[in-house]
Amino acid sequence: MEIVSSSDIAEKLCRQARQSKQIISLVPTMGFFHAGHMSLIRWAKEQSTMLVVSLFVNPAQFGPDEDFDRYPQDLERDARLAEEAGVDLLFTPEARDIYPAGFSTWVEVESFSHFLCGSKRPGHFRGVSTIVCKLLNLIRPHMAVFGQKDWQQWIIIRKMVRDLNMEVDVPGRPTVREADGLAMSSRNAYLSGEDRNSAPHVYQGLLHVRELFHSGQTKIEVLENLLLKYYRDNLPQAEVDYVRIVDAQTLGTSRQAGPGSLAAVALKLGETRLIDNILLE
Ligand code: PAJ
Repeated sequence: MEIVSSSDIAEKLCRQARQSKQIISLVPTMGFFHAGHMSLIRWAKEQSTMLVVSLFVNPAQFGPDEDFDRYPQDLERDARLAEEAGVDLLFTPEARDIYPAGFSTWVEVESFSHFLCGSKRPGHFRGVSTIVCKLLNLIRPHMAVFGQKDWQQWIIIRKMVRDLNMEVDVPGRPTVREADGLAMSSRNAYLSGEDRNSAPHVYQGLLHVRELFHSGQTKIEVLENLLLKYYRDNLPQAEVDYVRIVDAQTLGTSRQAGPGSLAAVALKLGETRLIDNILLE
């Protein structure tokens, strides 16, 4: 495995690989790997002959009061795990290389970026789509793999790729969970012992709402209220940011839930913001 921090060198290596007919896949990450990252990496490995993983804690997607400065990092461990999983190129750029002085071009997927997570994190998805656009232009992979835990992020990247005619497939892979159902996340490391014990309720609530849908309740307003009630009853200490049931592809709302609906939640336990989602069908 090569570890490369220069974007010029990464670009050159990937250009050569493409010229020699390699099938390149990219898994963009911010590092501190857990089983969720590793499942994307292992799956991408099977789809390609050259596997690139980027590891960059992207300052542009953090708000001023967010956890950029304390985002967990362990490059040595990540590099070991990446190598064991058969990664060919670990791209670890520096912020000054990605955003040199005078950088001023941003990508914003307007229709999807301002609600759900976008409403509480202004500028977040602009930062995400800009870095992913840059990574796609540098690496020029045939495929870039994303996790469905960050469903909105995945939909936004797919939309960007369609809108800007970028020639890349963007498959989404299922959420990997802890044994007790908590969606894996680098941020779980922040949870206090007590919050970690109650955090599985985030997913339990989503299973509960899917259950209600399956037993015939399709009114979105009712389902959203019942989900909110579940969290009030079972996670009274949580600060719920949103519970929403939306169309999984367009993220649009309507009155009735259907087989293509997605229930999504964001809430804070202590200082830790957790997100999760479930397809109702
Ligand atoms: P990060 O949070 O490191 O996640 C990297 C990739 O892993 C994303 O596609 C994310 O959806 C996926 N992932 C995270 N937790 C997962 C889980 N439990 N199961 C399956 N996949 C999971 O998401 C980002 O980084 C950044 O926003 C990035 C796309 C790299 C842009 O900076």
